[in-house]
Parts: sequence; structure tokens; C-alpha cells
Amino acid sequence: MRNLVINKPLLSLTAKNLSLLFAIFLFLTIAAAEGAERPEFDPQSRFHPAYAEHGMVVSESEYATRAGLDVLREGGNAIDAAVTVGFTMAVTYPRAGNLGGGGFMLIYLPGTKEAAAIDYREKAPLAARNEMYLDEKGGADVEKSRQGIIASGVPGTVAGLALALDKYGTITLERALRPAIGLAENGFPVDEELIRSLTRVKERMKASPESMKIFFKEGGSSYAPGERLIQKDLAWTLRRIAESGPDAFYEGTVAERISGFMSENGGLITKKDLASYEALVREPVRGTYRGYDIYSMPPPSSGGVLLIEMLNMLERFPLASYGHNSARAIHVMAECMKLAYADRAEYLGDPDFVDVPVARLISKEYARGLSARIDPESPAPSDKIHPGGKPPREGGNTTHFSVIDKWGNAVSNTYTLNFNYGSGITVPGTGILLNNEMDDFSITPGTPNAYGLTGGEHNALAPGKRMLSSMTPTIVLRDGKPFLITGSVGGSLIITTVLQVLTNVIDFGMNVAEATYAVRVHHQRLPDELRTESGLSADTIKLLSEMGYSIVTGDTMGSAQSIVKIGGYIYGATDPRRPGGLAEGY
Ligand code: GLY
Repeated sequence: MRNLVINKPLLSLTAKNLSLLFAIFLFLTIAAAEGAERPEFDPQSRFHPAYAEHGMVVSESEYATRAGLDVLREGGNAIDAAVTVGFTMAVTYPRAGNLGGGGFMLIYLPGTKEAAAIDYREKAPLAARNEMYLDEKGGADVEKSRQGIIASGVPGTVAGLALALDKYGTITLERALRPAIGLAENGFPVDEELIRSLTRVKERMKASPESMKIFFKEGGSSYAPGERLIQKDLAWTLRRIAESGPDAFYEGTVAERISGFMSENGGLITKKDLASYEALVREPVRGTYRGYDIYSMPPPSSGGVLLIEMLNMLERFPLASYGHNSARAIHVMAECMKLAYADRAEYLGDPDFVDVPVARLISKEYARGLSARIDPESPAPSDKIHPGGKPPREGGNTTHFSVIDKWGNAVSNTYTLNFNYGSGITVPGTGILLNNEMDDFSITPGTPNAYGLTGGEHNALAPGKRMLSSMTPTIVLRDGKPFLITGSVGGSLIITTVLQVLTNVIDFGMNVAEATYAVRVHHQRLPDELRTESGLSADTIKLLSEMGYSIVTGDTMGSAQSIVKIGGYIYGATDPRRPGGLAEGY
């Protein structure tokens, strides 16, 4: 063991040094007040479920993770791998992976310091009108926005993945699609989780003979574990895209099948809707939190704005000193969540149609005013909170994956069909499951969507408009390099899940596995209840109840797929709340 010899005092207290010390003290005080201090984080000191040195993929499908890793090993970059994962999950994770839905991809390239947010959210068909989703009394008819053929927005996934590859990737579309085509053509063994999720939607799927034909055996019985799910029509569609690019989907033979099926069945999506669909590259929303840089998804997702707004508020509280999931920490978080979700209902929508005051909402100054309204002892008075609906158990299905490559390029992608298996309707001859994303519009002001989220004018339905989302793909930088790549599933729970992954790592010094596994809480203002997963201590629940919270302990929340890179090592964790995922690196 080597001795450490100090030959001279580190500092001699001269007047010059004293003034230097004072200047440092002043700087640190101001920095702390603005939340610029950065807590130390050493994840190498504890266990990790997966680690690597070169690259990593974390997704909810082991097939997709491996397909993405193969691309990284061949020398592809994170975008190549992410696009490969996205197409593969359309085959192996049909509850949320998709061609018939939409989503968001956040990219950060440390070499050029470039950050991009690819928006491939679905759009309302040009023929869509609000009246189509109302009942005879003028109220929202959720059967129409969630179940039937008019529940689908114009899909964006194929355009989004192709755009990402074209602009930031290095491999061909054919290479990115190869694993998906193979798995659709030859099938893959189904597992318990796939069977369970299909059983839950079977009644809904019965409205689509095409879906029943693909996802159930003849006579409607379920596949047994280990039997192969073969999707020949989906393989046909994927091959058309590999041959002719996204045009096959939006203008070619696939587009013809989609628009033909729509016009024969009273659907809204036309050839024109498909031909005019465009994925967009937007500026990510940016913030800082305790010395880390936060990049996340801008509108039409509410995710990034709300995440940064909540972090800005939380930065004003010494969260770490309260203790993880202490009553005090949960109280402050819940109040920040309520304030942010109130803004969501009021201000957020598609920025191509409405003005969203993003700069104000994510400013430190705005958060200062909001956080001053938080009573440290008790929740905001309930007479200021209006009753909302309860989210149904079925909702909240989406999927997230995170990727990092050997150059440190990072991708955080969340995409969805909205519900599990979307509307449950498959377009015959294509294997494409359609989304039921029209429910994410505010059909009537104040009426909650499937996640209990309300909204008003900003998120009102309009032809060609993108419906508001909560998806929150996020990349956190430390010293200019991707440090934490994360995102989650869960409808309205997505944003608070991502928030807690971040605070668990940054404030509470957890490693990525602990940050993922830890018990989650959620408040979205309406309904006026603090939701928790089971596992909070009885003492904490008692303290929160005494403060005035109505506490509902129930289902698990979200499913985060995260990567942390630190000290030359990459650590990843897939969320145990949903089996079947894989965090793997090389
Ligand atoms: N469909 C759920 C979301 O986009 O937030």
C-alpha cells in the first residue's frame, strides 16, 4: 500500500487566500441557491444487473435488444440500433411496438453536441371532426375514440424511424428491417406475458377477425408458451418498406391496403392523409437540474415541459436531506406534480396549431413562483381541485427503449399504439395493428381521457393536428456527455415515472437498478388522489394521510428502461414491473 505524503499545508491563511475562500464560498452559496451544485454519484460501488464498456440496448423485448446489439457490434451507431429495435418490437412486442402508431425519438450526439427530437406522433385524419366522437347528448363517447375504426390517427412510426435513419444513421433501411422480417416470417416462441396481455384484450379484439386470426389460434384459443407466433402479412409489409422505403407505407401498396380498408369500413384515414404525413425534427426542450443538463421531448408531448417544470420546482427543496420516499419528500413531489399537471391541461397542445408558452413553463423564474405556493406542511386545499375521472386499468400501454453506442451517442425512444394493441383492429393483408390515439385529444373540455387527463382548447381535435402526449424520452448530460438515458410507459404516469428515475439517481444517489425498482408515487391533480405502488411504509402512509392526502395504493406504475454511463462503464436496467425486457451491452 502506498503512503500519501503531504509535504506542505494545502492552504496557508493569508489575506489573499481568505478573500479567495470568501469568493468561493459566495459562488457556492449562489450556485446552491440556483441548484447548480451536483451531488456525487458513484454507481460502481453497488450491484448492477447489466454493464458494458462499448454500447448497450435496454428494451422491453429481448429479441429487440439483441437485434439492436448486433447492429452496434457490427459498427453501427446508436441510431442504427434504435431504428432496428423499433422495427423489431413491431413484431415481437405487438402490444405497443408498432408500425400503426407513433412516438418520439430523442437523439444526442456528443461529438457535435447536436440534439434532435424526432416527432412521429400520429395526426388526426383530415376528415376527423369533433362531433364524430360525441354521444347524442353532446358528451364524449369514449367507445368511439378508443375502440372503433375512427379511433385511429394517421400512423407516424414508419416515417419517424426512416427519418432518424436517413438523417443520423449509417446502415441501410433493409439492414435495420432484417431482424424484424425474419422474426415475422419465421415466428418466435410466445411467452406467458404475451399470452396474458392478449387474453386481456381478447374481447376487444373479437371486433377484428384479422387480429383474431393472427394473435389467436383457430377457434379463438390462446397460443401456449413456446408455440411460435408467425406474422406473414406483417413480414410482407416490412419487406415492402425494405424494398421501397417509407413511401411503400405512405403511398404504395401498403397505403392502398390501409386506405382501402378504411373506406370500406367507415374509417377516416385516406390516401391523402397517408401521403401527406411527415415526421418532423424538433428542438428538444432543455433544462438543468442540480448541475446536470436535461434534454427531453417538446410539444406535442407534454412530457419534457412537465418534467423540466417539476425539476425546476424540486430544485428549490433539499430533497436528498428529506430522505427517499419520506412523507416530506413525497409531499413536495406530489405538490409539484399537481401544479405541473394543471398547466398541462391549460397550456399544452400541438405547437403547429396552438401557442404553447414553453419558454415560460420551463423557466426557473416561473418555477420559483410556483414552488413558493407549496405549503411545506400540507397539500393544496381540495376545494381548489376539481373532480376528475379514474384511469381504467387497461390504459397506459406504450413502450420505451434506450440505446448508447461506443462513441457515446444516445437515443431515447418512446412509441405507442395508445392502449395495449391499440384499437385491436388489424388492417387485413398487412399485419398492421392500428392505434387508438384519437382518445388523447380533449374531446370535450374537462372530460378525462383514458388516463384521467383533462384538457381544453389547446388540445382540442382539429384535422391534421397531433394529439397531446405524455411520452417523455429523456437524456441527461453530465459534463456535456450522455449520463442517464431514460423513459417509460404508462400514459399520464410516464412523466412522473421519469421524474422519479431522475431524482432517484441525482438526489438519492441510487444506481440505475435501484432507481428503476424503487416504489413510485404519482399525483396528476385530477383525480385528487396520491397514487402509490405497494411498498411504502405504513408510517409514511399514515403521515401523508394525516397531512390530508387521499392515498390509493394499487397497480404498479410505468416501466422504465434506462442506461447510466459513468467512469467508462455503462450500466443498464430494465424494469421488473414488466417481464421479458433485456438490458444488455458488450
Ligand atoms: N397515448 C399515451 C400518450 O401518448 O401519452
